[in-house]
Amino acid sequence: MFLTKAQVEAYDRDGFLILPNLVSKDEVALIKQGLARAAQVDDDRIIREKGGGAARMIYGMDDLSGPTGCAATEALSRSNRLLQAARDVLRDEVYLFHIKANFKEALTGQIWQWHQDFGYWRTDGLREPRLVTTMLMLDKATELNGCLYFVPGSHKEGTIDAPFDDKTTSVGLWTLSKEQQTDLVNRRGEPVPVIGEPGTVAMFHPDTVHGSGHNMSTHARWQMYFVYNAVSNVMQPVPKPRPAYKANRNNVALQIRAKESILEPAE
Ligand code: SIN
Ligand code: MN
Repeated sequence: MFLTKAQVEAYDRDGFLILPNLVSKDEVALIKQGLARAAQVDDDRIIREKGGGAARMIYGMDDLSGPTGCAATEALSRSNRLLQAARDVLRDEVYLFHIKANFKEALTGQIWQWHQDFGYWRTDGLREPRLVTTMLMLDKATELNGCLYFVPGSHKEGTIDAPFDDKTTSVGLWTLSKEQQTDLVNRRGEPVPVIGEPGTVAMFHPDTVHGSGHNMSTHARWQMYFVYNAVSNVMQPVPKPRPAYKANRNNVALQIRAKESILEPAE
């Protein structure tokens, strides 16, 4: 175990868990360097904001032979801190379903409407929401720069049949309607801001309803998302599978790397 019993209970109860200072400032700096390099690449792994311009999202940092590969990010995905914590909440061996980075550039970074990630992932052939997202703050996350918000306990609703919205931003999402979100908050309580210093980690359940606002500040808000799937949550075939960098079907259990700090090279 990496997490305490009380932390796992809090995750099960709330659908999320915040772990401040889990990653050091030097480790964050190394990851940001790799990400800045990846953002320069011209490839389908990079999704730009609506109307073009700044990168909104990048996939594939775990594929070291791919154009957006980032050795520091890949190494962190196998650290005891992240990997064992994911095993603890899923009670299983895990593998990486994908890694993505979400940029939200100063003044221009756009919103993420209220949604559950499993709304999308079930269309990839996943039967059960037995995944966990481990989100790492690469910049200070504030309410002004568009931090994430979670609706506590919303994972207990199951996967809500929400309408698909591919108009609001450059990324299509099954987005809760006004009525669905209002009813949810009336029953579950107000959304909780996920703010913190760089190096803070937030783990959340695929059915936890979350969203974030426009970046109104003059500071960027970059975040990295490591999504782990339980190895026993085998993906079913679908007619049009998404690329492996978005929906990895190769469920070989990931092993913890020998060196815990990603500043120490290799195994
Ligand atoms: C997401 O829901 O995938 C991202 C939200 C955010 O980065 O604010
Ligand atoms: Mn999401």
